Amino acid sequence: MVTVASEQLVQEQTNAPVRTLNESLTREHSFEPLQVEGEVPKDLHGTLFRNGPGLFESFGRPYDHLFEGDGAVTAVRLQNGQAWGATRVIQSAGLLAEQAAGKPLYGFNASWFQRFPRMLRMDSKNTANTSVMIWQDRLFALMEGGKPTELSMDDLSTLGETDLGGVIPSAFSAHPHEVPSRQALYNFGMTFGKQSSIDLFELPHQGKPRMLGRLPVSSPIMLHDFMVTENYMVFFVSPAKVSIWRAMLGIGPFDKLFYWDKKGCVDVWVVPMDQPDEPIHFQTDPFFQFHFANGYEKGDEIIIDYVRYPDLGVLEALGKEPDERPANQGEWAKLTRAVLNLKTKTLTHERMWNEICDFPMIHPHRLTQTYRYMWLTTEPDGQDDQERKVNEIVKLDLETGRDQRYMFGRGQNPSEPVFVARRDGSSEDDGYILTMVYEPSLHQSYLAVMDARDMEREPLAKVWFDHHIPTTFHGRWVAA
Ligand SMILES: [Fe+2]
Repeated sequence: MVTVASEQLVQEQTNAPVRTLNESLTREHSFEPLQVEGEVPKDLHGTLFRNGPGLFESFGRPYDHLFEGDGAVTAVRLQNGQAWGATRVIQSAGLLAEQAAGKPLYGFNASWFQRFPRMLRMDSKNTANTSVMIWQDRLFALMEGGKPTELSMDDLSTLGETDLGGVIPSAFSAHPHEVPSRQALYNFGMTFGKQSSIDLFELPHQGKPRMLGRLPVSSPIMLHDFMVTENYMVFFVSPAKVSIWRAMLGIGPFDKLFYWDKKGCVDVWVVPMDQPDEPIHFQTDPFFQFHFANGYEKGDEIIIDYVRYPDLGVLEALGKEPDERPANQGEWAKLTRAVLNLKTKTLTHERMWNEICDFPMIHPHRLTQTYRYMWLTTEPDGQDDQERKVNEIVKLDLETGRDQRYMFGRGQNPSEPVFVARRDGSSEDDGYILTMVYEPSLHQSYLAVMDARDMEREPLAKVWFDHHIPTTFHGRWVAA
């Protein structure tokens, strides 16, 4: 058995650099043919857009945290069994200013004299590094601390930051959600100030976007995601607070900008989309979440499925080995169902699955409806560190409780699984799973095209880039 230690020895003896997933993009390009191994189904016709950090250092100085990396959008276009790929670092105003100055101006890599006045002006770099949104045939890169950055769908070139015609005062989260019955996207953004707020937005498929209202928050908080049902926007506002004095003074490290208020609780906000100025509010015991799977209404109740963490410890542990993580990691990342009773203003939780998981994905037609299937990433609870690094994509059948999984090779990292329904598909799981996978032995990445009905099957196709694609957090499929 080859051990990590012996592999490192070989690397040292050969003087070959150890290559890893999270190093800067080595090549940027517009759409170019990609090599297809296997067969891309002929009915898979459209483009997958994904986003994540693409640069991991600034003028030779590494960023402090994965979340600080400058965003890069990667796209894979599939048509008639062929594939084309593109990838580009987003040319934000902040990155362009740094390139012009020839030195870091933002973040902890900048000198204190550079960053302090910027921090006072709340002038930060919009890295646009978290997700993408497709709205009215326009492509946007999103990050929760800034406004959307519009990109060209044709070649991924950066068109620039936008407030969508004056609608967004401060920020627009990386997690807009679709409500199919309303033909609209909903999202929120944080405004920090004397009166901090959660700003609520509606982006209809046709017509102008608008701000629906604002929810007050007592102090600046970190809020990553929320959930929608047919009639409500639902927020679980955890006591994950932003250390404003650290942010203002530019004192790192990055993960210490956020802290868990141990005396705090979760503020539950349920905002009727048709009466946003009459939100329902109550409090419950503390917990934290990054991502939601789905939400729907059932009489006086609202069902919200999400991935639960006991607190914010996961933020500090991102990128660390399992044995370096806090002791309560056994409670991390558990798929959980919250049942909200709007009459009694209470919330109960029920664990849905015991494995460590995240990035849940469902059939887009089942959003805000009852549903049966979910696909997500897991970190298997193996016997040693090597095995734990092997990630899987799992399909969960919520009706039978059965799961089906595909384990990628050693050291390979599959991304969030994106579900694409088959055009003439008849069942909820009739479609494809698209996941970006890093192959460490080649330092290259490929898009795995998988049969969503049978996740134990080998990928139907691997669509190879001739270089690596660093971590991509979130993506969207646009059918042609
Ligand atoms: Fe996210």
